[in-house]
Amino acid sequence: MAKKLLRVLAGERLDTPPIWLMRQAGRYLPEYREVRAKAGTFLDLCYQPELATEVTLQPIRRFGFDAAILFSDILVVPDGLGQQVWFQEGEGPKLTPVRTAADLKPLAPDRVVAHLGPVYEAVGRIRAALPDEVTLIGFAGAPWTVATYMVEGGSSRDFLHAKGWLYREPSSFRELMQKLVEATVRHLSAQVEAGAEVLQLFDTWASALPEAAFREWVIEPTRAIVGELKGKHPAVPIIGFPRGAGLLYRDYVAETGVDAVSLDTSLPLGWVVDELQQHVAVQGNLDPAALVAGGKAMQDAIANIKQTLAGGPHVFNLGHGIVPQTPPEHVADLVAAVRDVR
Ligand code: CP3
Repeated sequence: MAKKLLRVLAGERLDTPPIWLMRQAGRYLPEYREVRAKAGTFLDLCYQPELATEVTLQPIRRFGFDAAILFSDILVVPDGLGQQVWFQEGEGPKLTPVRTAADLKPLAPDRVVAHLGPVYEAVGRIRAALPDEVTLIGFAGAPWTVATYMVEGGSSRDFLHAKGWLYREPSSFRELMQKLVEATVRHLSAQVEAGAEVLQLFDTWASALPEAAFREWVIEPTRAIVGELKGKHPAVPIIGFPRGAGLLYRDYVAETGVDAVSLDTSLPLGWVVDELQQHVAVQGNLDPAALVAGGKAMQDAIANIKQTLAGGPHVFNLGHGIVPQTPPEHVADLVAAVRDVR
């Protein structure tokens, strides 16, 4: 009997949806904070296979999720390309910005896999340690979202440097995106070769682009990555997460070749049933703030998501990552509610 997540990603409808949560390892867990404190910096944690394995397994032990997601970050790819990346305590990621064609020259996609050896070692260790019924998910940031961090030099509200570049000089912006497509394919293939069974592409800032730019810088690069991965690893399902894409979710699904889409919190579920779930498996989409609140509001939201998406392939998840303020008991309540078949 195949694992539940793999069955659903292959298009099967199950009475009880499999469940995992984006950012299921992290600061809301005391056992994570303990390992994090002894690791040093956040990137030190990502690059120590033993510790990355331990924090990946923590939420599996505590909650019994149907899938584990590799503990890593989307910004290990710019780090592997040769850009300087660091995490400022309390401030989030910082990068030496890449803003011109000349800045692109030193970035080397063929160096990524050699640089990220400890990540693939963690994948192998996690896979060996997981219970038979739990699926291992590998991931990367999609090129547009990773480019926003590379060009802005960190998090941003308006993406004016990245968008300014793609509007004023699309030819050199395309070179950056081509390097990211190549680096992402190499990084995801290496994860599969080390033991990842499913891949997810996080396009967190897909919401920032108007239609024409969305087609060129979200759909096109994603389609290129999915096409190359399907050539190398045809049996490995790919979940796309074009967060905030609204109506463009439909064309993202139709044109990229992903096997499933992760739904952000704002998508109306009736529309999802009619427009997306006919074509691919859907994953989501409880509001992370409802998980912080817990109680009746959370239970009502869970019941509504389960019922509305029950007619087709559905993976239960949040609409975005868990926030550090989440009480771990609410996560246990969520898992129990999703598995309670009435
Ligand atoms: O889901 C998981 O449990 C796997 C691990 C994972 C992390 N980041 C660990 C992390 C995954 C899948 C990511 C993806 C990621 N990283 C995204 C896309 C998904 C999303 O949330 O939108 C983005 C945009 C990043 C970049 C990033 N990494 C930011 C903006 C930050 C700082 C914000 C914050 O929460 O502190 C990080 C740091 C980060 N990545 C942490 C974790 C657990 C917190 C670091 C710490 O322990 O101090």
